[in-house]
Amino acid sequence: MSNSIYAARRARVAAQLGKDGIAVIPTAPERPRNRDSDYIYRHDSYFYYLTGFGEPNAWLVIMGDGKNTLFCAPKDLEREIWDGYRLGPDAAPAALGVDAAHSVNDLDAQLPKLLENRDAVWYPFAIHEGLETRVAGWLNQVRARVRYGALCPEQQRDLCAVLDEMRLVKDAHEQDIMRRAAQISARGHVRAMQLAARMLRDGKDVREYHLDAELLHEFRKGGSQYSAYGSIVAAGANACVLHYRSDAAPVKAGELVLIDAGCELDGYASDITRTFPATGKYSGPQRAVYELVLASQQAAIDVTQPGARFTDPHDATVKVLAQGMLDLGLLDKNTVGNVQDVIDQRSYFRFYMHRTGHWLGMDVHDCGSYVEPSQVGEVSERKDPLSGEAIKNRPSRVLKPGMVLTIEPGLYVRPADDVPQQFHNIGIRIEDDAIVNDQGCELISRGVPVKPDEIEALMRG
Ligand code: GLY
Ligand code: MN
Ligand code: MN
Repeated sequence: MSNSIYAARRARVAAQLGKDGIAVIPTAPERPRNRDSDYIYRHDSYFYYLTGFGEPNAWLVIMGDGKNTLFCAPKDLEREIWDGYRLGPDAAPAALGVDAAHSVNDLDAQLPKLLENRDAVWYPFAIHEGLETRVAGWLNQVRARVRYGALCPEQQRDLCAVLDEMRLVKDAHEQDIMRRAAQISARGHVRAMQLAARMLRDGKDVREYHLDAELLHEFRKGGSQYSAYGSIVAAGANACVLHYRSDAAPVKAGELVLIDAGCELDGYASDITRTFPATGKYSGPQRAVYELVLASQQAAIDVTQPGARFTDPHDATVKVLAQGMLDLGLLDKNTVGNVQDVIDQRSYFRFYMHRTGHWLGMDVHDCGSYVEPSQVGEVSERKDPLSGEAIKNRPSRVLKPGMVLTIEPGLYVRPADDVPQQFHNIGIRIEDDAIVNDQGCELISRGVPVKPDEIEALMRG
């Protein structure tokens, strides 16, 4: 990507630091897995957002006047033979558009000098283990020089507050990557659905990991670097475990399979869930619950538009699900009352216990405040009918074009004596990724169908 995008982001940060401010942003550390093997390396999202630089061992420093300096791993032929190519400080300014670059080995010597005579130091709070201590060490070195006339920053500020707001609204370039990520993920879902039906038709022993393998195949084939999160491939009753991880359970004819999986492409996540019948044909009760979840998702999509609140899709979903729970007999109206009672008392929570979405971006649960910044002071209090706890509420975020969120209603029926048996162990979630635009929202994950007839047709093919 063009360096100018990253340079423009750094300039926007600089403009918010104050003229004597300084910001320090490390990338993520490498993490040992066992012995001398590390986990697959993933850069820090904030750092990457400002540099486009994916190497470990790197730091970015931005000054209030806009000047910025990269500290990165020095060239080292022997290490590069083992670990791979390093850009190195000499090539970094031309390659990345930063003003200056030094070896990361000089960081501790340089930072006290850079911090001297600044009034505020900004860094991401509570993200990088040990960073606070490291900053304190540099500040102490500046303090040791105050008797010679040096000024030491008096303020430490959380840079997340600045970067979270910037990252919340995705620019055209980010939206383009996210569209492509969602398309790749959708192909993975299609492939997994088709494989399940084909293997079962052939009388094979299908396991959750077979479907997981199809997802990964399609992700990597599409150029994605890795999964955006651990894939959930949940057969049958496993679908009622919200954070189930793909394992080895058999995928049986007659049961549903819930897949929640998405790839990460060039630093951006996708997050898609589909729930399909293992052999390609929904049973009556499965289809009834599926249609309900789908209708609740459509109600949420219909209100996902600029000017709406982040909570509006959730409220729309709950209304439809609550009515459906009464209609299907999952909830007994003689016990729980009418639909408004179900909403007010949160009786639906037994079958729908998560929110309808979250911000999506570089991180699957992306950063960005869910409270409208202009209304943070408007606090109201209510009592939660289930726990009895007092809950403080602030006005929910107003949606704007460029914000990206998931819309993911579900319904999960654990076996219980007061629940019709035909619905036992049905767990359904439908999740799509939406970019808020001028008119409403664009669903970027519909490369895999959601309508039950279309899913059945796809699985016959
Ligand atoms: N895959 C995580 C989520 O749906 O939030
Ligand atoms: Mn999600
Ligand atoms: Mn998901």
